[in-house]
Amino acid sequence: MVEAIRKLEDIPGVGAMTAQKLRVAGYYTLESVAVASTRELAEIVGISSDKALELSVRAREMLEISFQTAEELLKRRKEIARITTRSRALDNLLGGGVETQAILELIGEYGAGKTQLCHTLCVVVQLPPEQGGLGGNALYIDTEGTFRPERIIQIAQGIGIDPNEVLRKIVVARAFNSDHQILIIEKIDELIEKKNIKIIIVDSVISHFRAEYLGRETLAIRQQRLNSHLHRLLRIAEVYNIPVVVTNQVISSPDVFFGPTDKPAGGHIIAHLSTNRVFIRKSKKNLRIAKIIDSPYLPEAECPFIISEQGIEDAPE
Ligand SMILES: Nc1ncnc2c1ncn2[C@@H]1O[C@H](COP(=O)(O)OP(=O)(O)OP(=O)(O)O)[C@@H](O)[C@H]1O
Ligand SMILES: [Mg+2]
Repeated sequence: MVEAIRKLEDIPGVGAMTAQKLRVAGYYTLESVAVASTRELAEIVGISSDKALELSVRAREMLEISFQTAEELLKRRKEIARITTRSRALDNLLGGGVETQAILELIGEYGAGKTQLCHTLCVVVQLPPEQGGLGGNALYIDTEGTFRPERIIQIAQGIGIDPNEVLRKIVVARAFNSDHQILIIEKIDELIEKKNIKIIIVDSVISHFRAEYLGRETLAIRQQRLNSHLHRLLRIAEVYNIPVVVTNQVISSPDVFFGPTDKPAGGHIIAHLSTNRVFIRKSKKNLRIAKIIDSPYLPEAECPFIISEQGIEDAPE
């Protein structure tokens, strides 16, 4: 059974006004209120610190930081399913494919193939489980305007399934700024259930945040909002037993002279909340090298794959 994700308004004593103030300040979830400092809450909502304390206690009570037996935990973990990337090598690198109940972060410079892989997954997720899909639909949150239905058609034809049907099963939401992006994810529950969404793509998760919060003085607030956005995405992945795939850019680090000169944007916030991080770098022509970084349980290995008309494929021997 899917447990409903509760909203700020569900906290006793929190009305539409207070909820709005909290959201404006970057608190979108019960979790974020539960762990916020009382002083911060008091300032933001404009209430006494006693009231603020009450607010965070109630949020904590609602979350019922519950105890589970290891057996229950194992049962939940056994429900984890995987989607194929259509490259056997890349699937192996990921421990068997793109897994549910997790965030997969694709990192790479322009043209690395992040968007291509996202398009491929939107098609593959529609296949039945025995063919490496989840028999469901895709939600594509497009922040850069790079979603291309024409590309979906090519990939569907490559797999040999009806492109028109595939197109009907992908919901595309264009997010115009970070507020809009956050709002789409806030209001996603009904859509997930109604449209049988089995994968959520956010391409790219960070570009709006980077463009909007430029100065050093806004960095803290940016990171806080990004943090609650990613928390919410991870919670959705867990509750609905689906994968969430986000793309991330690289920033060049001038302090590095040897080895990889680029590192992922978004700092430790994204690093902590992504379950698996894959760094993709360009090689000759359509050849790409994927590498697992910072994984708690996957080995730090790498593998080649290619971008072709059919989407993602194994590199020829
Ligand atoms: N139909 C196709 N057939 C073969 N290769 C393609 C096709 N369409 C796009 N590509 C290749 O995919 C690459 C672009 O990859 P993609 O758009 O996924 O990059 P990205 O990592 O999302 O970059 P950015 O950071 O700019 O968003 C290009 O090298 C392009 O040649
Ligand atoms: Mg892209």
